[in-house]
Parts: sequence; structure tokens; C-alpha cells
Amino acid sequence: MERTLIKDLRSKIDQTVKISGWLQTLRDQKKIQFLILRDTTGLVQVAHWKPNDESLAEKISTLGAESAVSVIGKVIDNPVVKLNQLEIQLESLVVENAAESPLPFDPFAETLPTLDYRQDWRYMDLRRPVNYALFQIETTVEMAMREYWTKNNFIEIHSPKLTGSPSESGAELFSLDYFEQKAYLAQSPQFYKQMAMAAGFERIFEIGPVFRADPSFTSRHMTEFTGVDMEISWIDSHDDVMKVEENWLQYIYSRVKEVHGEQIKEHFGFELTVPTVPFPRIPMREAVEILKSRGYTLPADKKGDIDPGGEREIAAYVKEKFNHDFVFLTDWPVSVRPFYHMRLENDPTLTRSFDLIANGLEITTGAQREHRPDILAKQAIEKGLGLGPIQYYLDFFRYGCPPHGGFGLGLSRLMMVMLNLSNIREAVYLFRGPTRLTP
Ligand code: 4AD
Ligand code: MG
Repeated sequence: MERTLIKDLRSKIDQTVKISGWLQTLRDQKKIQFLILRDTTGLVQVAHWKPNDESLAEKISTLGAESAVSVIGKVIDNPVVKLNQLEIQLESLVVENAAESPLPFDPFAETLPTLDYRQDWRYMDLRRPVNYALFQIETTVEMAMREYWTKNNFIEIHSPKLTGSPSESGAELFSLDYFEQKAYLAQSPQFYKQMAMAAGFERIFEIGPVFRADPSFTSRHMTEFTGVDMEISWIDSHDDVMKVEENWLQYIYSRVKEVHGEQIKEHFGFELTVPTVPFPRIPMREAVEILKSRGYTLPADKKGDIDPGGEREIAAYVKEKFNHDFVFLTDWPVSVRPFYHMRLENDPTLTRSFDLIANGLEITTGAQREHRPDILAKQAIEKGLGLGPIQYYLDFFRYGCPPHGGFGLGLSRLMMVMLNLSNIREAVYLFRGPTRLTP
């Protein structure tokens, strides 16, 4: 018999159906057993009148919570039943996979164990409907990203993650043995998306894995994450890149609100706001002054970079002043930007770059790139890079490469910000960190 989803039962009143799912609760009474079954579309009550089949009743009474079962029964319209005002009268039951008891933890308990413990048993943690909702929303997010880009003449690329040279810096690099030489796991598709500009693709995006050997334990860093990257040609400045990003994000948020607005209220407890465009833009030099005037001093060792506290403080300022959750911080000092960022014409100590801060968290870094090979090589040397390993990259700019720029965004950071989560481990399917490689 074909399986019916719980959400479709209302259209099958008085018919015999098969449903498959997890036994969320069993209420074993004297004469009757109530089984609450769950699939990805909802919950339903299944009733078994014990005297009908004593041996089946015995089998059911030994079933552990979260067992995977299929049941066949008749759908009955019953206004007194709280769940969907219907129930299934059990005819037969197959235990597809019995759950051992006790469970590592009860995903439906009021108080949950620590996040770290839940990571050990992530597949149990993911059984919580809030988590299923999160990945339904993430699916829509990625679909909306692609929709927006493909409608605007972008094409998708998939660049290799095994590379011969670092793109961002020598630090945070995973290396591995690669036959007779060393290889590195890509820290970003940076060089390869720029190669697409040299190839004449004009507008590209990539959604793929990114690796960072970052030893820190924070609520927003992972050693492997999904990077969302784009690159466009024929731009005049980094502002052209910001314009694409803000419109793209507005489209993503409005699609998510359309499809999941109610679900977000139910599971995450707030109403999603679609951001207005343009997003506020503040040059870094000004941001530092604003922070000072609010009594926030950036740590001196940061050399003009902003720290997480500064990000939150500037976000608070933007919220007060512009009532906006997003802000582009622009024109970062050369000292804290990679060699490939183009510099401002009127102030070569600053770069044509930006970070996007959302609800106080960096979700994007972007820039116009230096596409003039002599200047690019000079900037690389200045940053202490050897030209040998990046010669192939410098060559991209020798045979007609247009001015271009782009950005990288962390998918789980976006989910974190969109759904108001306090830790990236809650926003990613499986977390990878310095001490976590399993499951
Ligand atoms: O800021 P990042 O390092 O910038 C780049 O990789 C550049 N190649 C982008 C460009 O086109 N100029 O990384 C981009 C984004 C960050 O803003 C952040 O959202 C996310 O990737 N990210 C991380 N997410 C989780 N864990 C980490 N360790 C992350 N590092 C960066
Ligand atoms: Mg960054």
C-alpha cells in the first residue's frame, strides 16, 4: 500500500491508509493504546483497541519511544481528538526499526542536554521539528539565491577544493600529502572565481565547501563551512558589488517570508523582517569614530580591524540611527585586507572593500579586486607572499581581464542571523571544529 503523509489524512476520511513515522509517545491504557506518530509533515493519533488483537497489544506495549514504524488503519473523523480532529484506528503495525531505550536523550523534553552532547547525537537532535524547519528554510534560501542569480544572468561554477597554494593567507590553512607534493584545502574559491572573470564569464556564483584551520572556539567559527560566493565583471567600484548583494538578500528574505513566515513565528517565535534597500554604508574610518564617541575602543592589536564587540556596537548604532539590521562597513585599511583587494585611488592606505554586518555579526567580506598584474604583484610582495606559487593566478590578468569584484558569505552565518540563533552549531547540519570530527 502506498504511504500517506500525515498532512494529507484529512482528505482520506473513512479510508484505510498506510502511514510511516516515529513513535513519539505511547499512552498504554487498560483497554486502549494511543500511539502518537510523527512524520516530517506532522503528528497523528493512532488508536488500538486492545481486545481486538492481544498479541499486537503486547508488541506495542514493549515499543520504545522513537521507534520507526508503519501502520495500516482506517482514518476516522473525530472532533474530540486534539490533533487534527482525526485518528487512525489501527489494523496492523510493522516495526521497521525498534528504538533502544533509554534514548541518548529525549528530543521532546522541556529541558535539553548541552549543545555539545546534542552534537554527539546530532541525528536525535535533528528530530526536533524546529531543526527540520531550519533546513526547510535553508533549502528555500539556497533556491532563492540561485533564482535571483540565474534571473540576472549569473552562471554557477564548481571550483576544486584541492589546491596548490593558499588564497587568503598562509594562516588557517589545512595541508595534506598529495602524492609527491603538498596540497591545501581551499580557504575560499577566491582565485578560481576571479579566473572566471578572466575567462569572460562576467557573472558567476558558487556554493561549496570552504576549509579554515582556525583553532578558535567561538559561537561563529567552523573549520569547514558552506561558502556562498559571487563575482561580477565591468564594475566601477565595490559599491556595484554591494548593490547586487543587498538586492539579492532582500529577494532571499522576501521569498523566505512568503514560504516560511508562519513557520518562523511558530518555531522561532518572531516575525521575519524583510530588509529595505539600500543598506546603510559606513566607511571604516567613520565607524571607528562612531565607536569612540559611544565609549567603545577597538583593541590596539587589531590594526584597524573590528572585533566582535565592535561589530555589535556599530550594529546597535545603526539600529538606533537608521532602524536597520544590516550595515556595510566600507573602505578597510590595507593592513587588514588581503593583497588582492584594490586600493582607493585617493588614499592608497585604504581598500575598495566591505564587510556586511547583520544583527551585529559579519556575514560577508567583499571587494573590488586589483586586476592590473603589475600592481597586483607589487601588493603580493608587500604582504610578504612569494610570487612563485601564485604565478598561475597572476597570469589570469595578463590577457584581457575586466575590472571585477565579488563577495563571500557564510551560509550558516546567514541562517544564524536570519533565525536569531546564538550559536553557529545550531545553524549547521554537522559542526566541524578543532575538536569535533564526528559524527
Ligand atoms: O571573510 P572571509 O574570510 O572572506 C573571503 O573568503 C573572501 N575570499 C571573500 C571575498 O570574496 N572577498 O569569508 C567570507 C565569509 C565571512 O564573512 C563569514 O560569513 C564566513 O565566510 N566565514 C566563516 N563562517 C564560519 N566559520 C568560519 N571559520 C568562517 N570564516 C569565514
Ligand atoms: Mg571577513
